[in-house]
Amino acid sequence: MGRRLKNMLIFLLIILKEFHMPEASCSCSSSPCTCTSLGLTSIPQNLPTNITELNLNDNQIHTLGQSDFSRYTNLINLYLNNNGISSIEAGIFSHTPQLQRLYLNENNLTSIPQGVFNNLNQIQGLSLSSNLITHIQSGAFSNLPQLQELRLYSNQITHIQDGSFSNLPQLWYLGLQNNKLTSVPTFQYQLPKLGKLNLISNNITDIPAHAFSNQPKLSGLYLEANRISTVSSTAFRGLNQLYELYLSNNELTELPDDLFFGLSNLDYLELQNNAILQIFPNTFTGTSSLDYLDLSGNNIETFPIEALLKVSSITWLYLRDNQMTTLSFTAYDKLSSIRTVYIFNNPWQCDCRMVGFRLKMNGSHPFENQISCTDPQKSGQLLKDINPEDLTCEEPMIVLGSVIGAVAGTVLIVGIILMIWFKRRTQNPAPGPDTSVLFSNTNTMVTVATSPWSW
Ligand SMILES: *[C@@H]1O[C@H](CO)[C@@H](O)[C@H](O)[C@H]1NC(C)=O
Ligand SMILES: *[C@@H]1O[C@H](CO)[C@@H](O)[C@H](O)[C@H]1NC(C)=O
Ligand SMILES: *[C@@H]1O[C@H](CO)[C@@H](O)[C@H](O)[C@H]1NC(C)=O
Ligand SMILES: *[C@@H]1O[C@H](CO)[C@@H](O)[C@H](O)[C@H]1NC(C)=O
Repeated sequence: MGRRLKNMLIFLLIILKEFHMPEASCSCSSSPCTCTSLGLTSIPQNLPTNITELNLNDNQIHTLGQSDFSRYTNLINLYLNNNGISSIEAGIFSHTPQLQRLYLNENNLTSIPQGVFNNLNQIQGLSLSSNLITHIQSGAFSNLPQLQELRLYSNQITHIQDGSFSNLPQLWYLGLQNNKLTSVPTFQYQLPKLGKLNLISNNITDIPAHAFSNQPKLSGLYLEANRISTVSSTAFRGLNQLYELYLSNNELTELPDDLFFGLSNLDYLELQNNAILQIFPNTFTGTSSLDYLDLSGNNIETFPIEALLKVSSITWLYLRDNQMTTLSFTAYDKLSSIRTVYIFNNPWQCDCRMVGFRLKMNGSHPFENQISCTDPQKSGQLLKDINPEDLTCEEPMIVLGSVIGAVAGTVLIVGIILMIWFKRRTQNPAPGPDTSVLFSNTNTMVTVATSPWSW
């Protein structure tokens, strides 16, 4: 009994020790030194001083003090995610000049004081996502010679002051997605290596002329899920390294001619789920590498044959969920040259205007199975299953073929009548009764010309 009690007491003591002296639970025998989810309210000061990686995620360290890291001058990676940190002062990281990666995600920071990261000459990655930051002040991220990745997504940023991002010669990724920006940030200083700029899910309404002229090396520009309705025709000028451009889920109704002019490396272009009504003939002119084009979920009424004929590089074309009604035989030739085509869910009218396209269909391209008629008589049928002779137009519809027929018929009748008249005139010179015959024949002719289908 006494022995059992003693064992139980020792067990209890161990548990209590765990709760009251959490530092003891950090595991620093291998890197990183791990102190996660221990309920810590301050930085433990009894860890080996030579540690290079320290993980303090998921604690309750609400504030950071000036001397908190003064013992750990060799730190290279420091994790402070999910701690409820609400302020950081300049000087906090002055003892850790070797830091290369600093993680401060999921905290309660509302602003970034000027100079807080100033001495971090080795810092390569800085993550401040999922905080409550509302604006970025001038000098917040300046003079960081090695910084490559800066993550500021899922904050409340409405405004970025001029000079916020200056002297960042290595920066190649800037993540500002899921904030509240209403305009494209204008970076006062050039970001000479910026390759990827993420502005997804903000509240941007327009893209002005030369909006990205200070980021000449952009290769990925992510602008989807904003409220963009206006884009200047020179918005993307100079981005000759741009490889992918995301403009989907915005409010565009038209794309200015020459919008993508000069984007000779553009490979991937997303424009789906806008309200685009029409594609102008030169919209894609100059995008000589364009491989993937998504125009689905718009209001395009006419198959953009002219624009597409000017880009021969496309192998993926999405035009589903638009308002197109007919396709010409040249459209068939263009679609046949594209490896993957999605064109379903358009209000196709399977009438005489589709004859040329239908005659070209021979079952060798998958897009032939996507054209489902929506006109009342043929609703639900596939164009490929309809005989070309049944692709007719209602009487009020004036079709070129029947007009030509009517004109030819008229010419023929006039010819016959004139022949008869001349014959009669030569046989019988008396003009009287013949004139009335000619007149009545002319009347018949007029009736014929106004109802072409009788021909
Ligand atoms: C820190 O120093 C101890 C001995 O003092 C050594 O065992 C350990 O490997 C060192 N750790 C690092 C990360 O250098
Ligand atoms: C951090 O902010 C959240 C709300 O965003 C709040 O619930 C939490 O109490 C705050 N934590 C601290 C330590 O201020
Ligand atoms: C975007 O702006 C509109 C008004 O301009 C506002 O109603 C809306 O709440 C904003 N959305 C976000 C996510 O900030
Ligand atoms: C169908 O037509 C295309 C030309 O558009 C041709 O290349 C192909 O060989 C034809 N296929 C069949 C099965 O006739």
